[in-house]
Amino acid sequence: MTETHFKVVLITGGAGFIGSNFIRLFLERHRDVDVVNLDKLTYAGNLESLRDVESNPRYHFYRGDISDESFVSRLFHEWHFDAVINFAAESHVDRSILGPAAFIDTNVRGTMTLLEVAREFGVGRYLQVSTDEVYGSLGPSGKFTETTHISPNSPYSASKASADMLVRAWWKTFGMETLITRCSNNFGPYQFPEKFIPLMIANALQDKKLPIYGDGMNVRDWIYVEDHCEAIEAVLYKGKTGEVYNIGGGNEVANIEMAKLILSKLGKPDSLLEYVKDRPGHDRRYAMDSSKIETELGWKPRRSFADGIELTVNWYLSNEEWWKRIITGEYQSYYKLQYEQR
Ligand code: NAD
Ligand code: DAU
Repeated sequence: MTETHFKVVLITGGAGFIGSNFIRLFLERHRDVDVVNLDKLTYAGNLESLRDVESNPRYHFYRGDISDESFVSRLFHEWHFDAVINFAAESHVDRSILGPAAFIDTNVRGTMTLLEVAREFGVGRYLQVSTDEVYGSLGPSGKFTETTHISPNSPYSASKASADMLVRAWWKTFGMETLITRCSNNFGPYQFPEKFIPLMIANALQDKKLPIYGDGMNVRDWIYVEDHCEAIEAVLYKGKTGEVYNIGGGNEVANIEMAKLILSKLGKPDSLLEYVKDRPGHDRRYAMDSSKIETELGWKPRRSFADGIELTVNWYLSNEEWWKRIITGEYQSYYKLQYEQR
């Protein structure tokens, strides 16, 4: 893998789940690249997830909003980015149903702002981190390919699909070197405990009920976060401009099976399971066909589902302080205050 083009890379949303895992992996593997992390530190952003890299001289953090054009322009002026990877987003489907406005602000307007500023400054490559949810929902068979019709069903997925359309337009109209990755459900360390797997683990560890939406038979295609990060790295360096790359773990699991697996790993009883009202517009099944990235870029997931889940459960067991402080809101006030003046 050659990295001659990249000396400074902008990562947005690096204090979130996938972004923080990506920054750790990227700094480790690309020893002559500087990484600038631009993150608004919303409820989901947590600098504690990057504690181990914060003293690395090649890591630089800025608190800011990707929708704030003057701030973003100043940052691009200060640094000459060779590449931008946009992880920043409002990412939770349930929150998008309760309040879609923030999703449009960040996921749509924020993406447009980044594209515009990146174009103005002639940034080499722009990679948009997107999702399988833009394709909508599958029946019992078949998989999403890169040519599957875009049919988002939630305000979240509609905002992500809109962003993808903008990225495509900036490629076609302005000739920007853009790339889009669409990945399935991630799991692993540092995932905010509102998402299914960490929520199930945290609730089980506190002997709280595990809320299962609907009949529990909705299926997700799970991928270990490090595998997703490696796929993004492969697309950044080797992807073909203007292309979309699907990324999936090939691990289809129904929600109820996943919850039972977590309970059994933690030695907790199934009586903690509680069927609750379904999510409105709940997509039934996701499954990704990743053959394009596998064939063209030589990527494939390395972690088996069994290993990934074992690592994840163990990580939450040994990092109780991390997720308990999130639940109690302790980190929020600390970091918000620290970076307020910037
Ligand atoms: P996350 O919610 O854990 O992290 C999002 C990060 O973005 C946070 O640190 C937050 O503070 C930051 N952010 C939010 N609004 C911002 C703004 N306006 N300006 C700057 N920073 C802002 O999300 P995640 O799960 O790590 O997802 C990262 C990306 O990957 C998102 O674009 C998401 O759509 C996509 N994705 C996620 C999954 C998944 O399973 N989690 C799967 C496929 C794609
Ligand atoms: O597919 C990729 C997407 O995966 C990403 O784009 C999103 O950012 C990410 O949040 C995730 O979306 P999902 O809606 O699939 O993930 P979530 O963890 O919210 O839910 C996973 C499944 O579990 C889904 O079928 C809903 C169900 N669920 C979720 C929660 C939070 C429950 O049954 N109970 C719950 O309490």
